[in-house]
Amino acid sequence: MSYFIEFIDVHKTFDDGRKVLDGVSFGVEKGETFAILGPSGVGKTVTLTHAVGLLRPDSGQILIDGQEITTMNETGLTQVRKKLQLVFQSGALFDSLSIWENVAFPLIDLGLDEEELDRRVAEKLDLVEIADLSDLMPAELSTGMKRAVAIARGLAAEPLGMLYDEPTTMVDPLMSQTINKLIRKMQTQLGMTQMVVTHDIANCAEKVADHVALLHDGKFVFNGTMKELYGSDHPVVREFVEEDLIRFQKDSKLHV
Ligand SMILES: Nc1ncnc2c1ncn2[C@@H]1O[C@H](COP(=O)(O)OP(=O)(O)O)[C@@H](O)[C@H]1O
Ligand SMILES: [Mg+2]
Repeated sequence: MSYFIEFIDVHKTFDDGRKVLDGVSFGVEKGETFAILGPSGVGKTVTLTHAVGLLRPDSGQILIDGQEITTMNETGLTQVRKKLQLVFQSGALFDSLSIWENVAFPLIDLGLDEEELDRRVAEKLDLVEIADLSDLMPAELSTGMKRAVAIARGLAAEPLGMLYDEPTTMVDPLMSQTINKLIRKMQTQLGMTQMVVTHDIANCAEKVADHVALLHDGKFVFNGTMKELYGSDHPVVREFVEEDLIRFQKDSKLHV
C-alpha cells in the first residue's frame, strides 16, 4: 500500500502536562480524502499541524510522501510544505492584500515572469470558482468565500496534497456545500491526497471523505468507511453520531 500521509504511534504531551495524542496511527493513500472527526478540543488541529512539521511529536513517526519528517530541519520541511498545503481554519489571509495578491503571495519567490504569474493566479482562482472576486479585499468576503480564497492560495504552490482544518465551521449550509464540492473537485480533478479535520459529519465529512476516523482521548476509537461509522455500536461513536444528527436536524429546521 502506498500512503502519502502516514502517522505511526504518534504521542504528544504539551508543557502543561496535557496528553493530546496518545498513540495515533493512520495512513492516507494517494488520491484519497480522509477525515478525522472529533469534538472541539480533542486534538484535530494538533494532528494537522504535526503533518506539516509545525509541531513535533514526543515519539512516533510521521511520513509524508515516504519521507520521515519528525527529524527534518526547516529546509526539508519547507519542501514538504510545498507538497502538502495546510488550509487554516481562519483562512489566514493577509487583510491588506487583495484576493489576487493573496493567491499570488506564495509564488513571489519563484521568479515567474508577469504573464506566467497572472496565468497561474487566474487558473487557481478559476479552479475554486472565484475569478470574479480577484480585486476585492478579504474584509469584503464572507467566511466561506475566505475559505475558498485560502484553498486557491494553497493550490498556488501546486501541491500533491491538501489539509483542511474545519472547512465548513462557521459557514452557512449553502456555502458549506460549495466548499465541500471544491474539496471533492481537488481530489477528482487534480488527484490530490487530502485530509479534513472536522466536528461535523453530516455537513462535511459525509460529503467529502472516502474514509473517516474518530479521535477520542488521544486515540482513534474508530477508523473505517462512513457506512461502518453509522453502523458502529461503539458507545463513543454512537454518541458522536447521534449528537451530529441532532445538530443537523436543528440546522435544517433553521434553514427551510
Ligand atoms: N501549542 C499548544 N500548547 C499547549 N496546548 C495546546 C497547544 N495547541 C493545542 N493545545 C491543546 O491541545 C488540545 C487540543 O487542541 P486542538 O488540536 O486545537 O483541538 P481541536 O480538536 O478542537 O482542533 C487543547 O486542549 C488545546 O488547548
Ligand atoms: Mg481545531
